[in-house]
Amino acid sequence: MSDIVTQLEVLQTKATAALSAASSSAETEAWHAEYLSRKGKLTTILRGLGQLSAEERPVVGQKANVIKGALESALQERQAAISSVEMMATLDTDAVDVTLPGRPQTLGKLHPTTQAMREILAIFGQMGFQTYDAPEVETDDNNFTLLNFPPGHPAREMQDTFFTKNDGVILRTHTSPGQIRAMREFAPEPIRVMLPGKCYRNEDVTTRSEMMFYQVEGLVVGKNITMSDLKGVMLNYGNQMYGNGREIRFRKAYFPFTEPSVEVDVSCSLCNGDGCRVCKQTGWLEISGAGMVHPVVLKNGGYDPAIYSGFAFGMGIERQAMMKRQVDDIRYFYSNDARFLDRV
Ligand code: DAH
Repeated sequence: MSDIVTQLEVLQTKATAALSAASSSAETEAWHAEYLSRKGKLTTILRGLGQLSAEERPVVGQKANVIKGALESALQERQAAISSVEMMATLDTDAVDVTLPGRPQTLGKLHPTTQAMREILAIFGQMGFQTYDAPEVETDDNNFTLLNFPPGHPAREMQDTFFTKNDGVILRTHTSPGQIRAMREFAPEPIRVMLPGKCYRNEDVTTRSEMMFYQVEGLVVGKNITMSDLKGVMLNYGNQMYGNGREIRFRKAYFPFTEPSVEVDVSCSLCNGDGCRVCKQTGWLEISGAGMVHPVVLKNGGYDPAIYSGFAFGMGIERQAMMKRQVDDIRYFYSNDARFLDRV
């Protein structure tokens, strides 16, 4: 018996000395492993208890428990002292210098195309135009034939088309096929809609053209709709989008689905018509193709051209954004350069 008790007392003395020499958490952990863990020295000594007699065992066992308890509370005390020293050290080294300036957080914002699209739809919304969604994957019929581009018509060549493996199914080259969809849904009711969305053309990418771009189409159908209605709507749009006091001019043009057809210019807001880089010294910015809906197209949409008339227009969204915010290259829009997206 005395043998085990001696061993325990020696252990306690050694352990206590070792603990007061420990000066970091790592050292107190190592100490715990050496003396108090399941594989530690105390456990090893206690294995000898089994050899003791039934009278000795509880006495020695109790002694062992007292020593164990004493070592455990010594460890706790030492650990607490070390932790507070370590915390003070960390506070010193990791201190936050509250006098340093903060780092600016960059916020996301709407893409310039989205901004322009929303501005345009808001302006036409005030004039009573509702937005109508039409699909990007279209039939050749809606995109061309029903818009008065018969098969083989040379005007089809104006728009290089992406075809699909399905015969007669293409990516729309313009938003105009939405005219057919809207008319067929609403005929013979009057119509005043905007048709926004992506269009695709199999073209070389240049400063002025991308393979994917956004357009918005406007369509008005009713009784006694005239060219001066078109002119008034375009003038109102030009004033609101590009600033008050703009002038509008129509130049003759050709589109198969309108007759007569025009291209619409607004006087340049940057130079007030004097001529500058943005308007290429002409004093005018082209904002839209437009015209009176061709009788064949009205008929294809379900309206009798003897009773109904209408006008339509189609504009490139990036182009409006380029002119309004003085961007000289359309490729900026889809090249994900954060400096551009931030500025515009
Ligand atoms: N769809 C034509 C294009 O992409 C633009 C256009 C011209 C639309 C005249 C119209 C219009 O509605 O009347 O080139």
